[in-house]
Amino acid sequence: MLATTPDQLRAEVAELIEKLGPGRSSLIPILQEVKRRYRGVDPEAMQVVAEALDIHPVEVYSVTSFYAFLHGAPEGRFVIRLCRSLSCDFAGKEAVAEALQKELGVGFDESTDDGLFTLEWASCMGMCDQGPAMLVNDRVFTRVTPDQVPAILADCRTLAAEEG
Ligand code: FES
Repeated sequence: MLATTPDQLRAEVAELIEKLGPGRSSLIPILQEVKRRYRGVDPEAMQVVAEALDIHPVEVYSVTSFYAFLHGAPEGRFVIRLCRSLSCDFAGKEAVAEALQKELGVGFDESTDDGLFTLEWASCMGMCDQGPAMLVNDRVFTRVTPDQVPAILADCRTLAAEEG
């Protein structure tokens, strides 16, 4: 459930369509904006967008599932993306993955109950010679070891507490 009502969302999407135009080409920018505002695009939101653009909800759903950055479920405040491509795999991403899951108490594609963290896999992000590579929101971490995981998460928690 997004933190808005269908009516409110309808009004917002109508505004976006006014700016972006009514065609299919507006679908991704609209979904991106909904995601940015509400940290997710849930099935109700997909329905609203589909109605507003006069396209089938399945089309919205398939676009949302195809593009990882439009994920349907609301995300945590910190989205941790661990690279699972070849070089990072050889560099020991599995041990980092285990440490992350253990510390967070959730698996990949899941979020913590406090809404702080979402854990996701990522594909190669171009840091292959410095793997395992990981992104926490926009921040890149390289040569990550399992031992570093608690401190990285603690920093996020501190930041969240400071920012309120
Ligand atoms: S394989 Fe992980 S960053 Fe390239």
